[in-house]
Amino acid sequence: MSATADCQVFNRPDRVVEGWYWALRSRELKRGQVRAVNLMGRELAVFRGRDGRVVALDAYCPHMGAHLACGRVDGDGLRCFFHHWRFGADGAVTDVPCQPRPPRVGVRSWPVSEAYGLVWIHTTPEPRAPVPAVPELEGLAVDALLGNRFTKKCHPNVVLINAIDSQHFHSVHNLPNVLDMVAEPVDRQRLIVRNANPVPRTSRLWRFISRFYASQLTYSMCYWNGSTGTVTLGPDFFHFHIMFALRTGPGGVTEGQTVLITKKRGGPFGWLFNRVVLLLTRLVGDYFAKGDTKVFETIKFDFKTPLKIDRPILEFIRHLEAQPTVPWTETAEAPALPAPADGLRAV
Ligand code: FES
Ligand SMILES: [Fe+2]
Repeated sequence: MSATADCQVFNRPDRVVEGWYWALRSRELKRGQVRAVNLMGRELAVFRGRDGRVVALDAYCPHMGAHLACGRVDGDGLRCFFHHWRFGADGAVTDVPCQPRPPRVGVRSWPVSEAYGLVWIHTTPEPRAPVPAVPELEGLAVDALLGNRFTKKCHPNVVLINAIDSQHFHSVHNLPNVLDMVAEPVDRQRLIVRNANPVPRTSRLWRFISRFYASQLTYSMCYWNGSTGTVTLGPDFFHFHIMFALRTGPGGVTEGQTVLITKKRGGPFGWLFNRVVLLLTRLVGDYFAKGDTKVFETIKFDFKTPLKIDRPILEFIRHLEAQPTVPWTETAEAPALPAPADGLRAV
């Protein structure tokens, strides 16, 4: 009997957990540009208005169904290519060139935020949580560098397990077996899994390393709605932070983007220092990301035999099973504004 056979949320490409998901890089969307984005199966037209604000609208025009990303940005709104209906940032039609009063229709507009050089989109109209962040840097100004963009042939939940699978650090990444990962729920959406083992003192090297830690070897992962995770590691005097922003792509694959993050430091020296820190963090992130490539090309995740050491993974799965999901890919959903009335009546 598999521990994951009956899961309703974990490792299910047909379920979308409520939350923020990365959509594209901020620099891929200049002022006045619009792009078609398929976000986990939902077609969106994402544009940056002349005011610099990014807006994400459901893609299909309520007139005849043209994809709005074929259109053009008009001020802080978007005009459909086909008959030039104009949509405001809230998705409502504000202008129809051929008649004085536009029909009271529109498309859904999704909450958007920009952070770490990425555009994030929320899967419900009212976000109940902020964009994922590094717990110890929450509320602080940060510097970020975008790392790799990657795909893996398995679900994002499975990729994210990797960061707390302490056995594989030894077997795949050739690291000593020194971690004891313990799960600590933070709130409904977040779960932190951190090492609880003190630094071992079994050799001269470890005794030297232990000088840089008051007690535990700092290594932790904070999960945000099971699709984004932030890893924190390093000695007490300096912590490195790597974010893995993931989402499902076509066929249930993972579309990921790593982000290297550090706290903002002022002045030209601070700027330079942060560049070095972020590049070092990138090397660490790449080391961990590359070691597992083979397994994520072929794995058919099925947790048939969890061991005691796998307990934090079971906690992560349990945490995900409690996450609320949203009907993200149901195209038959009612739009936010009144739809044109019955059938073939003109409005
Ligand atoms: S299809 Fe968009 S305005 Fe006609
Ligand atoms: Fe790994």
